[in-house]
Amino acid sequence: MILTQIEIRGIRNLHEASLTPCPGFNSIIGPNGAGKSSVLEAIQCLSVGHSFRTRKARELISHGTDEFTLACEMLETSSDQAHRCGLRRSRDGTTELRLDYEEVRSMAEVSKLLPVKALTPDSHQLIQEGPNGRRQFLDWGVFHMEQQFFTAWQNYRRALAQRNQSLKDAASDSEVQSWDEQLVSTGAAIDTMRRNYTRQLQQSVQSLLKNMESVFHVELRYRSGWSDGLTFDEALAKNFQQCRKFRTTTVGPHRAELVINADDHLAKQLLSRGQQKLLVYTLHLAQLINLHNRSSNLAVVLCDDLPSELDHEQNLKILHQLVQLGSQVFLTSTTPQNIPVQDFLTFNVTGGNLEIRV
Ligand SMILES: Nc1ncnc2c1ncn2[C@@H]1O[C@H](COP(=O)(O)OP(=O)(O)OP(=O)(O)O)[C@@H](O)[C@H]1O
Ligand SMILES: [Mg+2]
Repeated sequence: MILTQIEIRGIRNLHEASLTPCPGFNSIIGPNGAGKSSVLEAIQCLSVGHSFRTRKARELISHGTDEFTLACEMLETSSDQAHRCGLRRSRDGTTELRLDYEEVRSMAEVSKLLPVKALTPDSHQLIQEGPNGRRQFLDWGVFHMEQQFFTAWQNYRRALAQRNQSLKDAASDSEVQSWDEQLVSTGAAIDTMRRNYTRQLQQSVQSLLKNMESVFHVELRYRSGWSDGLTFDEALAKNFQQCRKFRTTTVGPHRAELVINADDHLAKQLLSRGQQKLLVYTLHLAQLINLHNRSSNLAVVLCDDLPSELDHEQNLKILHQLVQLGSQVFLTSTTPQNIPVQDFLTFNVTGGNLEIRV
């Protein structure tokens, strides 16, 4: 997918901005605080309803206004089919989403059509912080690769919430366990999809690291969220008293982990901060390559302040891989970028105003 027109109203200091991007590289330059990252946040909102910096609409909405509105036109390059999307989110919590002039209820419908991948300066948190971010990273890929994943995940979440409520209410054993059948069938499906995806991703990571002449060997391992050697069913039975004690379901895909090892050590423990950043960019790029190899729908890539903490050589390596990818890219920087691609546009941002640079 490529974005052909973007209208932004009321996101941070972008009171009213529009841009007509090119299908290749779109460089957004301006001084600190100009509104560069906000442009990227707006684009990600169009795909998932929130940004890489916050899930809260009220943080994104411009001070002194009650809502933000976003609209875009996009083109499916494989079929030449055009789509329009509009999103409005208000301080009072209401959200309105339209796709091709029809109201839609779930952001997932737009996300499927418009996959967006954000590479941001705090991306090393993927390695440094808890398993939540790594599960989200994994699920971005599984969501775009597996048709059944979203429904399975929704049903799993629903059964889990009900089971946890029963545990909180100290309900009878049979009441708590009445949710297990749905939990196990959806949970086992999620587990299989994530496991298969991790295997595919490992292959893409391997070949990408080779292309980038990496000195590290990286290994990805998926841990189910329950003890090895047990089925989910058996793990639930075995941990029933523990669930009772903690009044919550202590095993399942919601407790899964993606272990990231570099040279047989946890990447978190071995790698420097710069190396961690490089590895995280590599993992995201591997996801994009994987998606592009298996689906005709290319993702839009957002790259916020790429040079921060990567040395010049690593920076060039990432840029080279981004060029190879063939995606539409939005790249922010405080200084003009010189990227060797034909399809290249520069936009200047100052004080929330966006202008094409001629
Ligand atoms: N809700 C809001 N309403 C209005 N302005 C906001 C809001 N949230 C943040 N801002 C301001 O918006 C401006 C743009 O922020 P943004 O992060 O997009 O800048 P930037 O160009 O990416 O800067 P940097 O180069 O430092 O990364 C900042 O001056 C910030 O203080
Ligand atoms: Mg910024």
